[in-house]
Amino acid sequence: MLSVITRILLTSTMSISTVLRMVLNVEQSIRAICNCVMVALAEFEAITTKALIPRVYPFKSIDIKEAVCPERLDVPPPPPSNIPKEALSVDKDTPDYHVPRDSRLIRLTGVHPFNSEAPLTELYNQGFLTSPELFYVRNHGPVPRVQEEDIPKWELRIEGLVENPLVLNFKQILQDFDQFTLPVTLVCAGNRRKEQNQVRKSKGFSWGPAGVSTALFTGPLMSEVIWKARPFRRAKYVCMEGADKLPNGFYGTSVKLNWVMDPNRGFMLAHKMNGEPLRPDHGRPLRAVVPGQIGGRSVKWLTKLILTESPSDNWYHIYDNRVLPTMISPEVASKDTKWWKDERYAIYDLNINSAAAYPQHGEVLSLSTSGPIYTAKGYAYSGGGRRITRVEVSLDKGASWNLTEINYPEDKYRDFESDLFGGRVDMHWRETCFCWCLWSLEIPVSNLEKSDAILVRAMDESMNIQPRDMYWSVLGMMNNPWFRISITNENGTLKFEHPTQPALMPGGWMEQVKKAGGNLTNGFWGETSEGKPLEEAPVKEINMKKDGLNNTIELEELRQHDSSEEPWFVVNGEVYDGTKFLEDHPGGAQSIISAAGRDASEEFLAIHSETAKAMMLDYHIGTLSKAAIEGLKDASQEEQGQCSGEVFLEPRSWKKAELCKKQIVSWDTRVFTFQLQHEEQTVGLPTGQHLMLKLKDPSAANKSLIRAYTPFSQTDRKATMELLVKIYAATNTTKGGQMTTALDGLQIGATVEFKGPIGKFRYLGRGKITLNEKEREVNSFRMICGGSGITPIFQVLRAVMQDPEDMLNCVVIDGNRMEEDILCRAELDAFAKMKAPQCTIVHSLTKATETWTGRRGRISKELLEEFASPSEGSMVLICGPESMEKSAKEILLALGWKEVDIVLF
Ligand code: MTE
Repeated sequence: MLSVITRILLTSTMSISTVLRMVLNVEQSIRAICNCVMVALAEFEAITTKALIPRVYPFKSIDIKEAVCPERLDVPPPPPSNIPKEALSVDKDTPDYHVPRDSRLIRLTGVHPFNSEAPLTELYNQGFLTSPELFYVRNHGPVPRVQEEDIPKWELRIEGLVENPLVLNFKQILQDFDQFTLPVTLVCAGNRRKEQNQVRKSKGFSWGPAGVSTALFTGPLMSEVIWKARPFRRAKYVCMEGADKLPNGFYGTSVKLNWVMDPNRGFMLAHKMNGEPLRPDHGRPLRAVVPGQIGGRSVKWLTKLILTESPSDNWYHIYDNRVLPTMISPEVASKDTKWWKDERYAIYDLNINSAAAYPQHGEVLSLSTSGPIYTAKGYAYSGGGRRITRVEVSLDKGASWNLTEINYPEDKYRDFESDLFGGRVDMHWRETCFCWCLWSLEIPVSNLEKSDAILVRAMDESMNIQPRDMYWSVLGMMNNPWFRISITNENGTLKFEHPTQPALMPGGWMEQVKKAGGNLTNGFWGETSEGKPLEEAPVKEINMKKDGLNNTIELEELRQHDSSEEPWFVVNGEVYDGTKFLEDHPGGAQSIISAAGRDASEEFLAIHSETAKAMMLDYHIGTLSKAAIEGLKDASQEEQGQCSGEVFLEPRSWKKAELCKKQIVSWDTRVFTFQLQHEEQTVGLPTGQHLMLKLKDPSAANKSLIRAYTPFSQTDRKATMELLVKIYAATNTTKGGQMTTALDGLQIGATVEFKGPIGKFRYLGRGKITLNEKEREVNSFRMICGGSGITPIFQVLRAVMQDPEDMLNCVVIDGNRMEEDILCRAELDAFAKMKAPQCTIVHSLTKATETWTGRRGRISKELLEEFASPSEGSMVLICGPESMEKSAKEILLALGWKEVDIVLF
């Protein structure tokens, strides 16, 4: 019946209604026939539309020049694109080894994951559209590897609250739906975040103002794809999921279903960018494009659309892309999840923003040779499709404003009538603005000469205007105060400075104001309204001096206390007697003895907590005389110049060593190799002890970072020494590790300093140990570690395993998040094989995948009961994050272990 009607419709010249009437005369149930007719009509419509719309199937790359003939177009063509051919060498040892990239992009989170922006001038000079290789990139983790031949099999599932769950392959997405091409500006919610980080470090990494880019995206409308799955009435949200597997699951987020279905909003699925198939970093082969909203909603490597009643419960939807109230500090936010789960704080539409690209940061204008006019230029955008209606510039701190010229290249596409890159440019009926616009203003140089800064602000059609003051929030997102370029007039030249430079790049007036003690939060860019820098609020000092103690100590007296007997040491010119604390110092007596008779200020202040500092009152015995302070300085300079002999480390003075090799072991783990002072030298570290590493803090001048490490290389190795370090890079929700990110940033040839050994425990071999210098024997070790805490444990274990005569029984309980986080796994497993049953290794993972067959969960009572119950002559060694060490110790004590048999490294 159905095909009969279809044939009639296709072949006859009768109108559809005549056919219908004819059909309705037959002796069938009217209801059944009508149903058939509806289906037939739909089929008919589909057949005819298919004939009308040419469908270009772009499995192979299309040459843009062929696809777009600029003379034919009155629209801005994409800038010439140079597809990077090979992965850069920095990426070769990361999970993104397969992703070719442009080396001009500025990396914002170290080597991996790849988050980057183009230099602002290059971005602006590209014009309205950005080439895919300079388009900003925001990847939360590794880029999924999608081979050319796998693309046709790429599947998109549409599921959840739908009548007709669907699995569409890539080919169907291209062939079964109308294709559209739309210019869209994507903006990361963190754009301009470095300015927030200058005021107060947020939980996010430092974007400059180039976390914004524009491209022509091609693909079907998201609404058409969802429509086909027939959403239920109660479906309210569309959750999207990408194929990138991250520590907290796949990347995912949600948007409202009614937005998706609203043709004005232009939500689409894209497989092309500027006419080329998507590049790996931008979601190859398929991504969502959500115009007018923050980039975080445009899910890349899209695999699922799930219709739900509530917003997404994906970790990245909850803990990312939010503006929490400004008074919520990072500490409060991390303690209480309610702040994250409140949908009111989730960001969808972009807010209004603008920046200037010209003058460039660091640009210099000679007053004697320049023309009379300088043209300032920049960009502006707003959210939700709202048009930018004005961009204004002030040269007098906002007292008066000048209207700029605005160019809206997006409007050119509204009149475009044919297909572009295989998609219809269907914008003539829609008035929404989804792209940035470009502004410019001709300014008399004489006005610039009189000004101290160029201020830029934009307004949109809803009269939203950029604020003067910053709204700081925990994630540092949606930063949009007036963009300010400072002007310094020096000997006939004007020097321009942007607020910041991206990533850890130094420069920008905000950094200078901060250094000079100005207050960046007062709304006057660190100045009073009269132009003078304000005093910075004083930092709370911990009192480490006894009230009323008037005891001056000379150098000679200090020197008499330079050994383990009554060790005295100096912090900030004050003298402390460490004798009473020798037994209790968590780092072992050696930590105090190494400082005896010396000035320990730098390392004491760098590594001790406020609680430790407050304890110093009890040990304070007097103040060093001025002459003694000078004498101490001279002595320490002399020592530093000395070159030591057989062993490198000195317990009492810092020794310099050069970084000669950096090996990337995994995306977050490195082995750093340091050159000792000569070929025959060994590091000089007893097994079980640690050394201190000191390097300059890249984020604060004149400050050092000091941490304890245990080398990974054998202690008797000559000429070089290796450290295995896990890099804790900053993410949107966590602060990066200061020391590990600084280490990761070191160039080959950089010099760092070491001192040691330190630690209260030593393994002498074959069951002999010393704890706080007291020797004893043990018959087994229970070694409990978490994450990078494996390094000291590994050193002891290796000493036992490598000595065939050493019969000590060792059980290692190693806690990690995921399989890839397990450090030294191959070596550990080899020891277990080599010396079974003397050596047992137990890995327990908190975020294991389904295929993991080992233990799961944290280091729990059950695990410790099973593998570390107390036994006569045994000793427990623990090393890991503080919380893990504390909870393991509590469990062990409850299990019956004695305090003296538990060593925390
Ligand atoms: N989609 C997936 N699957 N994984 C991601 O890490 N990052 C989001 C979004 N989509 C992300 C994602 C964020 S925060 C932004 S700003 C945009 O992608 C960036 O898109 P781009 O890298 O193509 O510029």
